[in-house]
Amino acid sequence: MKKRVVVLSGAGVSAESGLETFRDSNGLWANYRIEDVCTPEALRRDPAKVLDFYNMRREQLLRAEPNAAHLALAALEEHFIVNIVTQNIDDLHERAGSSSVLHLHGELLVSRSIKNPHLKVETRGPVKLGDLASDGAQLRPHVVFFGEEVPELERGAKIVSLADIFIVVGTSLAVYPAAGLVNYVQHGVPCFLIDPNDVKPSYRMFEHIRKGASEGVPELCSLLISNI
Ligand code: APR
Repeated sequence: MKKRVVVLSGAGVSAESGLETFRDSNGLWANYRIEDVCTPEALRRDPAKVLDFYNMRREQLLRAEPNAAHLALAALEEHFIVNIVTQNIDDLHERAGSSSVLHLHGELLVSRSIKNPHLKVETRGPVKLGDLASDGAQLRPHVVFFGEEVPELERGAKIVSLADIFIVVGTSLAVYPAAGLVNYVQHGVPCFLIDPNDVKPSYRMFEHIRKGASEGVPELCSLLISNI
């Protein structure tokens, strides 16, 4: 029986693929105001600005490639059941070959009707004002904005509660409710944190591997495989 590794990932896992994180000094939130591009109010007030922000992100994503961290987690499936619970809206875990990826905050390559969250459409090009879903309503990014519900939260909590080994990589754990998922890990489960910087010192249960994801994740994966 394979053991189950659950990975909670954030923007840092994709940083070395060239996608900016949010809260680092050169991160997205240093250059944009959340309330201008990532809230339901912003979408109502200035939809073109919000759409353009995500159009830029999408264009950048389509030029990016998975890095050694994404690839190592995909390869880990040879030895473990691996469930990825990610806050990222990119598809780099999938492109690396991971077969179980839950997107807590939505997906950049999907748009949906502003009226019906279930009416989704795959999106690789820019979305403009006047681009409509099949119900005739404007398309918006399939992304969870600040102040919106996280529909996949319950599923994420269930997955984390099943972990035999838990890995957090590249997230500041600053955004709730996603950050609260660490509380669903069962007692006694080995927990690893891969991040070159300090993350919430209160999470003492983690063994902190103070490295970038592309170095730290393959190293940890090799260690886990050698300890089977
Ligand atoms: N390897 C690993 N971690 C890294 C790297 C790297 N090369 N570079 C930076 N990091 C770490 C940072 O130290 C930080 O702890 O990645 C983390 C990124 O944190 P945030 O920018 O806050 O990103 P994240 O935690 O994913 O943000 C959560 O906030 O704005 C929202 O919806 C957005 O899903 C996002 C959520």
